[in-house]
Amino acid sequence: MEEQNNYKSREVTPIGVFDSGYGGLTVLSEIRALMPEYDYIYLGDNARAPYGSRSFERVYQFTLEAVKWFFRQRCHLVILACNTASAKALRTIQQIDLPGIDTRKRVLGVIRPTAESVATLSESGHIGIMGTEGTIRSGSYNLEIRKLYPDITVTGEACPMWVPLVENREYDKPGADYFVQQHLERLFEKDPLIDTIILGCTHYPLLMGKITQYLPENVKVISQGKYVAESLKVYLQRHPEMDKNCTKNGGIYYFTTDSPEKFGEQASIFLNKQVKALQTNLEYKL
Ligand code: DGL
Repeated sequence: MEEQNNYKSREVTPIGVFDSGYGGLTVLSEIRALMPEYDYIYLGDNARAPYGSRSFERVYQFTLEAVKWFFRQRCHLVILACNTASAKALRTIQQIDLPGIDTRKRVLGVIRPTAESVATLSESGHIGIMGTEGTIRSGSYNLEIRKLYPDITVTGEACPMWVPLVENREYDKPGADYFVQQHLERLFEKDPLIDTIILGCTHYPLLMGKITQYLPENVKVISQGKYVAESLKVYLQRHPEMDKNCTKNGGIYYFTTDSPEKFGEQASIFLNKQVKALQTNLEYKL
């Protein structure tokens, strides 16, 4: 078991990693594999997950509460390791809220680094995005990819059943086959020329085994964790003023808004080990 360190220490200013639930752990793993020296604090808003089908206003409100929580934990840099939160809340937080909170703090998302790195991998110029209803409806991937590569065709497919399959440990069971095959078929019906699929939801890498089983031969599937990690590394190299604010003791601290016991158990699906989490509340009362 990975032990919770003594987070109370005033010396620690970790990088915050946020998700509605457990999916962001797939991104956290890649980030820690690339940059193990930093301190990290992970928050899963499990009490209010999933975010995938919630309204723009609700996802924005929850995400802003989480960002403020990270700032109270002394974080200077927060990564929204959730596509739904990145799609629906990031831009407003960056442009409207941050200037009024603290101009030196930064909040980054997962959609832009994924779009930047992955779009060039397609040979046909046709890319598919699998994501939650919120992410697909927002059109964020389409926007980010076409800003950089206007000739690329982006087609989205919302897969509302995929997150519950993962959260309920059904991702490698026979029941998952139906939903995986159904959404892949729908995607290729919309655009048969797709040769690259982005898993635009942090839960989906766990379904990779099933997804590859139902894919046409020449199609690549990309999980975003590695690309988000590489882009964060470049960001910290380019921003030494931020880098020096992020402490480097290799610590990791897990928090959840729901039961810490359940978090520890479920997190093992994503991390292949149990972790000790602490329960927290995102409301701030004076
Ligand atoms: N982790 C979220 C994402 O990447 C999906 C889970 C949810 O619906 O809350 O979009």
